[in-house]
Amino acid sequence: MGDVIDMRSFKPSDNLKNYRNALGRFATGIAVVTAIGPEDGPTAITINSFASVSLNPALILWSPDKNSRRHDTFVNAEHFVVHVLAAEQRYICDGFVKSAYAFDDVPHLYNEYGVPVIEDCLAVFQCRQYATHDAGDHTIVLGEVHRASHRPGEALVFANGAFREIPVTQQA
Ligand SMILES: Cc1cc2nc3c(=O)[nH]c(=O)nc-3n(C[C@H](O)[C@H](O)[C@H](O)COP(=O)(O)O)c2cc1C
Repeated sequence: MGDVIDMRSFKPSDNLKNYRNALGRFATGIAVVTAIGPEDGPTAITINSFASVSLNPALILWSPDKNSRRHDTFVNAEHFVVHVLAAEQRYICDGFVKSAYAFDDVPHLYNEYGVPVIEDCLAVFQCRQYATHDAGDHTIVLGEVHRASHRPGEALVFANGAFREIPVTQQA
């Protein structure tokens, strides 16, 4: 059945690309997380590790990489906002892959906690940090959602290492 990787003898130097290819078969959306750092000011990061965890209470998670220069800002932030990107917002995705501070061409406001809220995203989840958990080379950040919004539109999708668009024919 295709490529088999024995994770018991997994050596990142040999198998990492192969293992990442296996993970890449799981298609995800793309989100941008924003927060405000005491020294950095408005900070953002493009992610695909977003997931819903609990409905009651409303909890979501994402995981910043410990090797990221932005990791500590997000782990220490009491408030953060997760923005699900629409197909036409690829430029926002690309901007925050490269830089934490690429807000110049990105229309945004600030919520009552001073966190940037990017306009016109497919869905927005405004959160207060609920917990963090150590998880290997990443930290899991859980957020309690205090405000959620969404609009119709096509999602920006990441699968098999490439960006795609998913047409949405019916909108809830
Ligand atoms: C499709 C995609 C998904 C990503 N998902 C994550 C993620 O879930 N967590 C994370 O820490 N970085 C993620 N990144 C990497 C960040 O967007 C960014 O490139 C990285 O933080 C840059 O390193 P720096 O923070 O040291 O500048 C992702 C990048 C891409 C292209």
